[in-house]
Amino acid sequence: MDHADHVRLLRDGVLGVGPAWADLGSGTGAFTLALADILGPAGVIHSVDLDAGALREQARRMRERFPRVSLHQVAGDFTRPLPLATLDGVVMANSLHFQRDKAPVLALVRGYLRDGGRLVLVEYDTDRGNPWVPFPLSHETWVDVATRAGFRDIRLLATVPSRFLGAIYSAVSVR
Ligand SMILES: C[S@@+](CC[C@H](N)C(=O)[O-])C[C@H]1O[C@@H](n2cnc3c(N)ncnc32)[C@H](O)[C@@H]1O
Repeated sequence: MDHADHVRLLRDGVLGVGPAWADLGSGTGAFTLALADILGPAGVIHSVDLDAGALREQARRMRERFPRVSLHQVAGDFTRPLPLATLDGVVMANSLHFQRDKAPVLALVRGYLRDGGRLVLVEYDTDRGNPWVPFPLSHETWVDVATRAGFRDIRLLATVPSRFLGAIYSAVSVR
């Protein structure tokens, strides 16, 4: 996947929603860069990851590619309450699959979002895990999990073929 794929996976879930977003489990920032590209200079992105080294690399890339987009980094754990202002949207890309029980994290995410705010999920389209991707969820399963977590209007946005686990999909849900 390249930057154009990352943008395509997020774009229709992000455009027109508002400037304040979080990227939970951002890593070195592949999807943060896509978010910054879509939001433009008005964007305010809160980036959360356990890995401080990955956040340093993300900050370097953002300075290089999107210096006018505000980036607020939190070296922390998204399974615990985070000091985030009310958000227009949240991106979780390849990070929810580390949680066996997704409900507690989704309850936290729902709490950060304003009414009508969006959660954009990017995941492998499979329910079968492995040591690297322990608890993935297919889009079909995601519709059920997100509905139970109180989200509505859950919609597939895009898919990208992947040699690893078949395909990656993105889906948007509304709080
Ligand atoms: C597979 S990487 C995905 C990175 C990026 N979102 C992407 O798709 O390119 C997963 C990232 O989630 C982070 N992560 C996993 N569990 C986390 C947690 N509980 N709190 C914060 N970050 C977490 C890891 O440190 C890692 O950087």
